[in-house]
Amino acid sequence: MKIERPRGTRDFLPEEMEKRRTIERKLREIAESFGYREVSTPTFEHSELFKLKSGEGIVDEMYVFKDKSGRELALRPELTAPIIRFFVNECSNFPKPLRFYYFENCFRYERPQKGRYREFWQFGVELIGSDSYLADAEVIILADKMLKSLGIDYELHIGHVGILRNALSFLADKASKAMRLIDKRDEEGLENFLKEIGVKEETKQKIKAIMNLKGGREIIEDAKKLLDYDFSYLERLLDVLDSAGVVYTLNLGVARGLDYYTGVVFEFYSNDLGAQKQICGGGSYELAQLFGGIKTPATGFAIGFDRICELVDLKPEKKTKVVVVYFRGLEKKAFEVAENLRSSGLIAVVDVMERSLKKQLSYANDINADFAVIIGEEEVKKGEVSVKDLRSGEQFRIQTEMLPLLSSKR
Ligand code: HAM
Repeated sequence: MKIERPRGTRDFLPEEMEKRRTIERKLREIAESFGYREVSTPTFEHSELFKLKSGEGIVDEMYVFKDKSGRELALRPELTAPIIRFFVNECSNFPKPLRFYYFENCFRYERPQKGRYREFWQFGVELIGSDSYLADAEVIILADKMLKSLGIDYELHIGHVGILRNALSFLADKASKAMRLIDKRDEEGLENFLKEIGVKEETKQKIKAIMNLKGGREIIEDAKKLLDYDFSYLERLLDVLDSAGVVYTLNLGVARGLDYYTGVVFEFYSNDLGAQKQICGGGSYELAQLFGGIKTPATGFAIGFDRICELVDLKPEKKTKVVVVYFRGLEKKAFEVAENLRSSGLIAVVDVMERSLKKQLSYANDINADFAVIIGEEEVKKGEVSVKDLRSGEQFRIQTEMLPLLSSKR
């Protein structure tokens, strides 16, 4: 019986994995250069961790199951809630701020399409313990640097859910639903919803005007005309971003799909992807108190790793690959030569199929090796090996101890 892989999941061939690992390494290097250190949390959590504050959207998409003791668990749909749980349980006494990063798989029961999977990877950071605009500035600068380092073309949109919530505060418990509609840019849905709950035309127009405020920092002046709100936090943040050379669009319609955000929020979009063009999302939030800790501000983001991999055209650096080809009876010598090659940093492959010399050579070509090192009785006696350059066809003999030089010959 042929068993298919579950819908919305993927298998990755070696070429794809090499590319993914190369991108991952770059992101790690940049995160670490800002002082972030990697953490890891369980793949599944008690489902209530996500039900408490992540919002209806995420909860509806969650993989929830009962274990054999009847506990309700969920595969993590994201990492922010788990990291704050971890922080509250085990690291709340660490010197502040804490700088954590992660690279993990997440699970959401969404309708699969290009760029949207049921199992996907996030590379993210959480900066815990500061309520300063400088913390938001740092994570935005970091995300911007990561995406730039990969040569991706993107737009960064910065909003502030505090401003939006302020404008919607009169809706009380119905504000979250309005926020979700704004997040989906569903103007018609929002219009109908506001009408349904009896919001006055004038207020409706004001909400729509706020969510459509988009442009350079001059839109703050327009926002000030619509709202009685202190914009100085946002202004100071933009000052830092301007001086760091971060290019952005201020967009007060950015509402984010998760309920826990409290202040600045941001999203990065790529125009080179289809419908699923959001490649990174984040913002500031407060979850620690909700999880039994003391009130602690935090900010962070997660990059949709699978989406950025689509955008990056990158050939991973390859090591020189050598196939050690040998006559029957010289297996031990072949293993020894291969080990010497490996200790010099080359990739060495030895036949384990007990095949003829001809078949070993043809396999070397099939796997795109750079060289075949041929071991025969006569060569062994002289302390030599024959080398065939599989790209040029050139063949020559060298002393066995000269083999490490092959790495520079490619
Ligand atoms: P999010 O916007 O839900 O935020 O997800 C972050 C990124 O993950 C998205 O921008 C997108 O690129 C990617 N992503 C989401 N769903 C899928 C999917 N089904 N398939 C492929 N990629 C997907 C969060 O998860 C927050 N925890 C981010 C954060 C960290 N906020 C503060 N700290």
